[in-house]
Amino acid sequence: MEMRNVCHSVFLLLAALTSFTGAVEVKYAQLGETATIRPPGDGGLSKCYVYWQLKGKDPHTNPLAWRNPLGGMGVSSDDQWKGRLSLSGDSLIIKDVQETDFQTIVFERTCGFETSLTEHKLLKLTVSVNPSSPLLPGDTLSLSCSAETLQGHKGPEIHWLNPSGETIEKGPQPLTLKVTSQDSGQWICVCEKENTSKVSVTVLDLSPAPLHPQYTSKSWPLTVPCSLSANIAWQQIKEKDVQEVHWHFVPESGLSQRLFSLSLEDPPTWKADQNSELRPVPDPKKGNLSLTRSRGSEEDQGDYVCTMRFKNGVSLNRTVHVEVLQITSSLGTEFISGQQLNLTCSIGHPTPSDLQLKWVPPEQSSLSSLAPDRHLGHFTIPQVGTGDGGKWRCELWRSDTLLTSAEITLKIESRLSSWMLVVICSVTVIVILLLILSFILYRRRQQRRTHLGRRFCKCKTPKPKGFYRT
Ligand SMILES: *[C@@H]1O[C@H](CO)[C@@H](O)[C@H](O)[C@H]1NC(C)=O
Ligand SMILES: *[C@@H]1O[C@H](CO)[C@@H](O)[C@H](O)[C@H]1NC(C)=O
Repeated sequence: MEMRNVCHSVFLLLAALTSFTGAVEVKYAQLGETATIRPPGDGGLSKCYVYWQLKGKDPHTNPLAWRNPLGGMGVSSDDQWKGRLSLSGDSLIIKDVQETDFQTIVFERTCGFETSLTEHKLLKLTVSVNPSSPLLPGDTLSLSCSAETLQGHKGPEIHWLNPSGETIEKGPQPLTLKVTSQDSGQWICVCEKENTSKVSVTVLDLSPAPLHPQYTSKSWPLTVPCSLSANIAWQQIKEKDVQEVHWHFVPESGLSQRLFSLSLEDPPTWKADQNSELRPVPDPKKGNLSLTRSRGSEEDQGDYVCTMRFKNGVSLNRTVHVEVLQITSSLGTEFISGQQLNLTCSIGHPTPSDLQLKWVPPEQSSLSSLAPDRHLGHFTIPQVGTGDGGKWRCELWRSDTLLTSAEITLKIESRLSSWMLVVICSVTVIVILLLILSFILYRRRQQRRTHLGRRFCKCKTPKPKGFYRT
């Protein structure tokens, strides 16, 4: 052992004179994180003796870590290092970096008669987020990432990557910004390219409102979506002093009315402010604040505003526009065949150009195979037949997505049968009139006959005058 140490010391001296260039490799590490210190030319050199040791100490006496060509290896079991050191190849891995670890560590590699030394300086990287609690959109966030600098060296190149992976700033630290919900997530401080450090930022917000209106009809369900952003718990909202959560409805023409408000006790429950057919999704604590209805109605058309107001005055809201598809018939739903029928399908104003309307006439209708202007809002049938009766459907599409469909059921009476009805009625009336007439005539004749008979009787068989006298 003595002999080997002496030998090594000699090699070390020789090597120090030849190989050691004096350059110090810098490694940045954050307190509590893991630091991996890579020596030059790591990998494929297992036929060497390797030692990691603090600068100024004998590399071969209780080193931090060592390895020999026979596969033996070991790490220091000093209290300061216990359980935190390991070797991966020739790289030294320090787990849970402590304040006392920021020192210069020497790497020594001896391959045959050749020994090389490198110095590695562990420098402290400090990352902080202020405030560390969840934020509301518009709040100011301060992110700081700074590193110790080695005397005589310039500071490391530091920049931030936002949660979308975009480089934010290379300039001076700290980085301050007014947050939006897009800033919620993992921020990464990149120090000298390879040293990265992650911090998480939470911005409480509502999910984005849908880009397009929600479409419904009398035969289609309706959902008015509003929910907390993903990964936001109701508890976080409460801790931020939420004051009010409510739904307002602004009809196309009319005044805004409050539909529902959330009472904020535990568990939160919805209270209806208006008689509305809409129903809030149960269990708002799960973050789904949407309203639903099994079937739409024309009165549903308008803007729905979901609002969340906090004590500090910040108010988050999302507006969902709802459109109702309707079919109207120029003749109503029950009429007689042979007339001109105009069917109109619309959302109350011209259909946006990215939407298509599609008519689906009843199956038995002669128009189901040939519908000239199926894609237009108007459908004109010059002479409607009884076969056109039944369920007409009008569908609203955005490219390959069916948005909603409306239906109307037409009852069409045959013109013939109605004429026949008219004829039968008229004939009946005429027959009755004739009967009455003949009855009257008959009575007249009867009366005339008795009158005549009486007269005839007077002259032909006069009553004996003596009859009264006796
Ligand atoms: C909220 O509930 C509605 C209706 O049940 C559902 O359609 C919607 O997907 C839910 N939203 C979220 C974010 O879970
Ligand atoms: C149907 O529409 C056409 C033109 O689109 C119009 O000339 C006609 O008067 C309409 N008929 C009825 C019954 O509304």
